[in-house]
Amino acid sequence: MSEAKFRIIVGMTALAASLCAGYAASETASHALAAPESFTAISDTEKRSAAIFTELGKVLTHPRCTNCHPAGDTPRQGDVSRIHQPPVTRSADGHGSPTMRCATCHQHGNFEPGRVPGHPEWHLAPREMTWAGKTIGEICEQIRDPARNGGRKVEELIEHIGKDTLVGWAWYPGFGRSPAPGTQAQAGALVEAWVKTGAACPAP
Ligand code: HEC
Ligand code: HEC
Repeated sequence: MSEAKFRIIVGMTALAASLCAGYAASETASHALAAPESFTAISDTEKRSAAIFTELGKVLTHPRCTNCHPAGDTPRQGDVSRIHQPPVTRSADGHGSPTMRCATCHQHGNFEPGRVPGHPEWHLAPREMTWAGKTIGEICEQIRDPARNGGRKVEELIEHIGKDTLVGWAWYPGFGRSPAPGTQAQAGALVEAWVKTGAACPAP
């Protein structure tokens, strides 16, 4: 190979490598969650609380959560949140119609050969827990309202978001799906900090 040709190849490889590195860096930034401590500069407690919730919103509005907290009665699939194929609906108990029960296809864990996600409790969140298409402020009002959050006190959301294993699936979603940002423990820490600062909501 001539030296000129070799130089071009080396140059192109370096360019490709730097493009990839740039992509990886932006991926990491959008996938990270800020720690509760990074909000201490906001001295007004209510504003700090709302800012912490806004950070948590990166998780709540992620397709790994909204695909199961959709508007309407049909779950969504993938990072683009397309309508579930084959067509299924929630039905009264969230577990699907008698002939299309979620558990027929969704097993106790992810089934990688078929790329089907799974968990023993796999089913659709009830209608009043719709997050898709809502602003962070609207989700916040709803999530702290016992009439729309499954009768929970805000304190119980710390455990639910930080520890529940169905919620936890969102960080280990299996092949072809991007995980929710940060870690489940970090999300739980944000909920805890939000509750301790008075569970204030961002403007709707
Ligand atoms: C006939 C089989 C079948 C039934 C029944 C079924 N699913 Fe699925 N579901 C799949 C398959 C296959 C995938 C993976 C396809 C993909 O994501 O490209 C999937 C993916 C999903 C996803 C996407 C997860 C994500 O974030 O990408 C959700 C949410 C979901 N199903 C919810 C449900 C719910 C809730 C029910 C019951 C109401 C249900 N499914 C019933 C086959 C089924
Ligand atoms: C496979 C479907 C599924 C996925 C994925 C899912 N949820 Fe849920 N979620 C449910 C169901 C079903 C309920 C209602 C059962 C209950 O109240 O315990 C629920 C209820 C909740 C509640 C309590 C009600 C409320 O709105 O305050 C919270 C909080 C919650 N989910 C958080 C999350 C978060 C955060 C994610 C993503 C990291 C997530 N969920 C992903 C199915 C899902």
